[in-house]
Parts: sequence; C-alpha cells; structure tokens
Amino acid sequence: MNVLVVGSGGREHALCWKIRQSPLVERLFCAPGNPGTAAVADNVDVAAEDLQGLLRFAQAEQIDLTVVGPEGPLCDGIVDVFRQHKRLCFGPDKLAAEIEGSKSFARELCRKHRIPGPNYWTFDDHLLARSFLDNRDDGPIVVKASGLAAGKGVTVCRNSEEAKVAAAECLEKQRFGKAGATVVFEEFLEGTEVSVITLTDGETIVPLETAQDHKAVGDGDKGPNTGGMGVVTPVTVMPRMAAQIESQIVFPTVHALNREGRRYRGFLYSGLMLTAQGPRVLEYNCRLGDPETQPLLLRLQSDLVPLLLATAEGKLASQQAPVWDPRPAVCVVACSGGYPGAYKQGVPIFGLGRIQTGPELQVFHAGTAKKGGDLQTAGGRVLAVTALGADVEAARRSAYAALEQIEFEGMHYRSDIGRRG
Ligand SMILES: Nc1ncnc2c1ncn2[C@@H]1O[C@H](COP(=O)(O)OP(=O)(O)O)[C@@H](O)[C@H]1O
Ligand SMILES: [Mg+2]
Repeated sequence: MNVLVVGSGGREHALCWKIRQSPLVERLFCAPGNPGTAAVADNVDVAAEDLQGLLRFAQAEQIDLTVVGPEGPLCDGIVDVFRQHKRLCFGPDKLAAEIEGSKSFARELCRKHRIPGPNYWTFDDHLLARSFLDNRDDGPIVVKASGLAAGKGVTVCRNSEEAKVAAAECLEKQRFGKAGATVVFEEFLEGTEVSVITLTDGETIVPLETAQDHKAVGDGDKGPNTGGMGVVTPVTVMPRMAAQIESQIVFPTVHALNREGRRYRGFLYSGLMLTAQGPRVLEYNCRLGDPETQPLLLRLQSDLVPLLLATAEGKLASQQAPVWDPRPAVCVVACSGGYPGAYKQGVPIFGLGRIQTGPELQVFHAGTAKKGGDLQTAGGRVLAVTALGADVEAARRSAYAALEQIEFEGMHYRSDIGRRG
C-alpha cells in the first residue's frame, strides 16, 4: 500500500521512520516533510494546510492511507475532505478534532459529562472579562485563547492584573486573531503534569505507553514554556493513578464525544494535572505529541500501520494490543539560540554524520532545511535526539553523547532530561 504522512516536524519524521519499517508499505510520501523525512520517504511539495492539494496528490498517487501529524489540518477538516472522496485518512474528523481546536468546547464537554477539570469562565467580551477579574478574589488564574494558537495562547497568571493584560492581548489587541476571540479563564491547578495518549476508534481504546514531556526551556523547569524540550518514557510516577485516569477521564471523554455525535478516531492526547484531589483535565490534543512521539515510536515494537489502518476504518477491536520495548527511551531537543523567543534561521548544522544511528538511537529532524546540500536550521526546535537504554540513565547517556557530536551556532538544550525521579 501507499502511505502519505502530513506535516514537517520531528513527530512526522518519527512517523515516517516507523511507517517505513512496515512490510505492508510500498511507497511512502511526506508532505511537505523535512530533510529527515527525505531519508525515509519522498517529500512532496504540498503544504500541510493545503487540504485540496493533499487530496489531489492522494488521488494522483493512489494513496491508501494518509496519516496527519499536526492539529491544524485535522481541525480544518482534512479527514472530512478525504472522506467525501472515499480516501482513508487517519485522525479525528472536524467535529471530533474540536476537542483541541476549541478549548471552550472541551471545557463544556467536560462540565456536561462530569469529567474532572478546573473551574472555568468563558468570555468573548473584553469589558465583561475585565469586570469578572475585578470582582474575583485575587490570586493565580490561567488565561487561555480558546482556539489554536501554536502553543502560545496560554498565560499562567499570578494575579488578576496579569490576567487583565493576557485577556487584553486576546480580546482587545486580537493577537491570536479568531483563535483569541473567546477567552477561557481557568482555576489554577497545582500538581504534577502528565500526558496520556490513547489510540481509539471511538469504541476500542488502546493506551500508549506513558511519557513525560518537559515544557520549560531551562533545567529544573526554569524559564518560559516551549513546544517541548525533552521526553522520558515510561513515566514511573504514574501506575498509581493510571486506573483513575482511565476510568475518570479517558473512557468518559471518548464516551462523551460519542454521545455528542462526534465519534473520535485517532490519537487522543489528554493533558492532565495530577492534583491532591485526583487527576484533572488541562486540555486535549487531537493528535500525537511532539516530541512524545519520537521516543514512543522508538519503543513501539509492533507494526504501526495496521493499527492506524484499523483505527481509521473503525475496526481497532480486530487488532492485537501493541507490543512495547520494556526499555526506557529519552529524547532531548536541540534548539536554536534565543528559542522560545526570536531566533536566527539558516545556521549551518555540523556533526550529524559522526553519529551512529540505528534502532536504539535516532536523530529526528524538526526544524532543519537543506541548502545546496548542506544542512541548516529552519525552526526553533531543530533536532530531537532519541535513544533507548537498559535503564533511564543509559538512555540518557546515549542521547547526550550523540547530542554532544552536534554543533550549530547558538544551539541549546536542557541537560536534565531523564534526571528527575
Ligand atoms: N488550569 C491550569 N492550572 C495550572 N496550569 C495550567 C492550567 N492550564 C494550563 N496550565 C499550564 O499551561 C500549559 C499550557 O496549557 P494548555 O492548556 O496545555 O495549552 P496549550 O498546550 O494549547 O498551549 C500547560 O501545559 C500547563 O503547564
Ligand atoms: Mg498543552
């Protein structure tokens, strides 16, 4: 069969790397891809947002399965567009993807179906939002642009004054355009943050292995948030809570979507806060996480393609549960100087050739480009070095040893991924 992967980040490189290993796959394409995907797939010059262009390509090349990495095309309805033309596309359709595309929808879904989350208040009027903030007891509060904002729409505020500034960015200055036309204020939750990713076709629910992302740019979780600086899988703190998370959050969410007539097919990512009162939903994503995907797929021993196919066809029950390498994996992201603030692009990257890659060590490309045969930076998160090891310490050592071979001006990464217990 022929497969098309949509997207151009580290997650999509890892998907292509894994899908390429499937004996079922004849031709593999990635649109638009990056220099990493080019090594395992044929890159196609069609943007991930160009739904009609992707459909035309899938028709012309007789693509049997299209696998969508990022949330943008899913929320825009790529699965619906393909369905109308009888092409199989993996991921939730537009209605189901709204669970990520609209944080206010996700919150209402939770409230209506009694899925535990923070208290919240939704506003689309700036004056009403301000007067709400004036009249509450001061203290921390979280301000969220409801729509897709590429990870930049959330501000954790220490007090109402900060919240006013964040709300004004959305409702008054329209910094996020339509995505910020509705704002969700949320009770600030304290606890340990974890994410739980499951594969579901709306009937069968298959949990993936646990993984923990590190969002803050600096060691010890210092500094501003990023798209994700590194991941450890599995997460050892979780088993205690696992049953509770499944029965109170994951199952009820899939069920709630069904009851709303929004049957979910795809990866469902639940971002949770484990509070003293139990797990609480922070948000949902309608796709795999980046960089969680990179170490998870290094650990996945089963063929991914039949799982994706069965999910897209609504026949996930027919599949064996996926088999995972019991060994842990660590992923560390190398970033451009200045990221998550402003950064230079087009900086030459050296040293990749010195790294011996294989099934236990991969350097996934995120923000890279080729210019005249030379590799250079083309994004904030540049490379995701991902390694398996006998234990977390061994995986960590292997990832960092590889990372030390890589050089580019301004390169920075966290040095503590896999170090905390
Ligand atoms: N209610 C909350 N209480 C405390 N922290 C929160 C809350 N909601 C979000 N956060 C923090 O903000 C981060 C980003 O919020 P999230 O809802 O995941 O938005 P996005 O990933 O779309 O930017 C979370 O990973 C978490 O660290
Ligand atoms: Mg998030």
